[in-house]
Amino acid sequence: MAVRLALYHTPVLRDEVLTGLITSAGGIYVDATLGGGGHAESILQRLNPPGVLVGLDADSDAIQFATSRLSSYQGRAVLVHSNFRDISVALAQKGIDRVSGILFDLGVSSYQLDEPSRGFSFRTDDRLDMRMDRTQAVDARTIVNQYEERELADVLWMYGEERASRRIAHAIVRHRTHSPLQTTGELTALVKGIVGERFLVKSLARVFQALRIEVNNELMNLESALAQAIAILEPGGRLVVISYHSLEDRIVKDTLKQEAASVQRSGNKLVPDTLLQPKVKILTKKPITATDDESRVNPRSRSAKLRVAEKL
Ligand SMILES: C[S@@+](CC[C@H](N)C(=O)[O-])C[C@H]1O[C@@H](n2cnc3c(N)ncnc32)[C@H](O)[C@@H]1O
Repeated sequence: MAVRLALYHTPVLRDEVLTGLITSAGGIYVDATLGGGGHAESILQRLNPPGVLVGLDADSDAIQFATSRLSSYQGRAVLVHSNFRDISVALAQKGIDRVSGILFDLGVSSYQLDEPSRGFSFRTDDRLDMRMDRTQAVDARTIVNQYEERELADVLWMYGEERASRRIAHAIVRHRTHSPLQTTGELTALVKGIVGERFLVKSLARVFQALRIEVNNELMNLESALAQAIAILEPGGRLVVISYHSLEDRIVKDTLKQEAASVQRSGNKLVPDTLLQPKVKILTKKPITATDDESRVNPRSRSAKLRVAEKL
């Protein structure tokens, strides 16, 4: 895998991440979505010994790329091939139970999207795959070839909000009765046959997003990881999350709101703050978004929403 730095991934909202995340140069920080190591490298540049960066990624290509990129930070960059749903275990295995900050920069990297063999994109034609972690058994072909028509339609509707979800699911099931669906190109042609040329790109984006979320169990992993992350932060520690679509941003927003609450509804009753200790303070009333300049240079940043919370 010989990928040049700029091609792997350009980090989004880099300065805003550093400002939100780092409270002490000697702390332990976690980048739970290491990717090409762009954010990780910027964090390391701000730390002084004994400051340490632990980087996690479910994708072994990311670990391999970032290991080489961060090789000059020997001993201060600890990189682990792990899903962030296992963040507590991954840190415990490194002897860490409290950290100063945790970053999640969700979704896929530009490398994953642009590398045809990863099967994430409708812009290239290769094996339909979409696994972030290629040691996982279930890939996108499993879903399109084995899910029942109704389950498939539900995935396309729930995770892609695709209006033609039922018709597309029906077409997939009809196709696989004579041969299994194998490639991104076959799926693209099939969606085109249903929605036509005019809205094709938007529909493809929704269908591919939905399958990706299902393959990687993205929303459940995020919910589980956020709860663990808040528990692992030391008082004053920061949680920084960048999301790229409304489904993941809603989970981040609702989780932070719930963890920041001092009163909560239980049926018709309000449970008072004497019974409920808020765990975090939300530092971003509204999410931070990219400036026009950043959006122009890095189109990926246009949909980014960054939220920051501080552990109490
Ligand atoms: C947007 S990229 C991160 C880019 C990174 N911030 C940088 O500066 O290069 C997202 C990364 O998170 C990883 N990822 C997504 N979901 C994950 C999960 N549940 N556990 C671990 N890594 C995950 C992907 O494999 C991908 O490499």
